[in-house]
Amino acid sequence: MAGKIPPQFIDELLTRVDIVDIIDPRVPLKKAGKNLHACCPFHNEKTPSFTVSADKQFYHCFGCGAHGTAIGFLMEYEQMSFPESIHELAETVGMAVPVTQSLSATPATQNLYDLLDKVSQYYAHQLKNHPQHEQFSAYLQKRGLSPQIIEHFNIGMAPDGWDNVLRTFGTSELARNQLSEAGLLSSNDSGRTYDRFRNRVMFPIRDRRGRVIGFGGRVLDDSSPKYLNSPETPVFHKGRELYGLFQARKANRKLERIVIVEGYMDVIALAEKGVTNSVATLGTATTPDHLHQLLRSAAEIVFCFDGDRAGREAAWRAAENALPLLGGNHQLKFMFLADGEDPDSVVRQHGAEAFNNLVAGAKNYSDFFFDSLETRVDIDSMDGRARLVEIAKPYLRHVPVGIYRDMLEQRLAERAQTTTSTLNRHLEKPADVARKKLNKPAINTGGFSPVRTAITILLQHPGLITDIGVFDKLALLELPGINILVQMLETLTEHPHLNTAALLERARDTDYEGHLQRLALQPLTLSPEQLKPELAGLLLQLQQQAIADRHEYLEQKGLRNLTEAERIEYLG
Ligand code: UTP
Ligand code: MN
Repeated sequence: MAGKIPPQFIDELLTRVDIVDIIDPRVPLKKAGKNLHACCPFHNEKTPSFTVSADKQFYHCFGCGAHGTAIGFLMEYEQMSFPESIHELAETVGMAVPVTQSLSATPATQNLYDLLDKVSQYYAHQLKNHPQHEQFSAYLQKRGLSPQIIEHFNIGMAPDGWDNVLRTFGTSELARNQLSEAGLLSSNDSGRTYDRFRNRVMFPIRDRRGRVIGFGGRVLDDSSPKYLNSPETPVFHKGRELYGLFQARKANRKLERIVIVEGYMDVIALAEKGVTNSVATLGTATTPDHLHQLLRSAAEIVFCFDGDRAGREAAWRAAENALPLLGGNHQLKFMFLADGEDPDSVVRQHGAEAFNNLVAGAKNYSDFFFDSLETRVDIDSMDGRARLVEIAKPYLRHVPVGIYRDMLEQRLAERAQTTTSTLNRHLEKPADVARKKLNKPAINTGGFSPVRTAITILLQHPGLITDIGVFDKLALLELPGINILVQMLETLTEHPHLNTAALLERARDTDYEGHLQRLALQPLTLSPEQLKPELAGLLLQLQQQAIADRHEYLEQKGLRNLTEAERIEYLG
């Protein structure tokens, strides 16, 4: 089992490596003001929006949202694992990677990945060797799947019985706890625990790096529920994962287009017929997280839905979620199948070419958007057209300021038979929004809390820690984000030389990782020199608030009820 790389080593590595040296040979960079830029390697574009900051040691693409440190870049660009990219970087600066070998130091999530992988192999093994395997193989064959595609998607079977997995893998209490944490067990009201997946065809779900993170299981007949999926676990989040993305990326060196379908069997049946660019959501609507990931893998995303009402509704939800991602050099499209069809049935009956033709004829986002809105009004009357403007308005506000939004507004004007200038009087003008953003002073405005602002400043200018003083009471505060701030102050007090990238890496795999990434990009208009007193002021303000809160708490408790220590604290 791989050991853990000490965080101090990663800190040190990120201060020695220069991200520019890592990216430039792979994606040649040009100077652009303070930063460097290039056309983004993670999505198709003609004008550069991929920016590398030598100060902060990270990259960010304003087109597709890709971002990260030198470690993250290698993981994304070279498809390396986390340890692989650490080793690669260490080599470039001649450092040797130390590894602590103790088992207990292995992150708990690594154990879960290992376990899920073993269970997946177990299910696949059962499909070949279990006494009942023929029944399952016959089912898969009936659905048109070849042994190669079964292997490619690592399809397996969970045998009938309450405790096959429990007995095979739950040999100690620790192991049983892990099975439960991995989402492989269920329990009934009387507290009895048993295998979650029984007598089902098993589809391992992999993350984009190929690690097994969960399962979907299908019954062989019409019983219910037809599909059972892993619950949310520390490694499996339905709203983030896409079935088949790993396989699609593996099968295509460069993915131009990805088709999002609804089911596991759709992805697999398409791949069987040679359509290797489809992915499925896991019984949920397409989330913005899904879209972000997909746009990093391909320039064109086609949503494929059933033609029935449920399909149209799902398509509209996807369209709503996509609003903040419109524009840039990517395209979103929608296609609808005939009622009662799904990609599986289409590709099996009519073949890959027929399916690809349907994909090629998919509707543009803007057509789908306006067509859907128009079904809600009577477009032939003036009142209906005025209503169209009213209902379109709140949606357009979510579209990023830019040419695409301008064009949507123009289209709205056309459809409402008015002019853009009339329309603009009723819409917030893009220029106004942009100006508001630019003029935002760095400090304490836009509703940003002092905690958030302090984190932002520290994250972007960690060097300021050296003469900022000691603030030891902040942990008493019950404010959103205070733990992150306290932790960051502690880390920096101990390791004052850390840069932004090292701080971001320390947050890897925490639930606030994404939050910090966003704060790292927050524009700060002041120089570090000007920010220093601001930061000190914010921390002082928080410290005083903590002291005042504590004083009030002790006061309310009453002098008589205080412990000795509290009494000393209260009376000073
Ligand atoms: P469908 O009912 O359209 O199934 O559900 P399908 O993909 O056509 O399956 P086959 O062809 O009958 O085998 C689409 C997706 O919705 C989720 C699954 O992710 C499924 O692939 N689903 C469906 C569930 O999670 N649970 C269910 O009971 C049914
Ligand atoms: Mn189906």
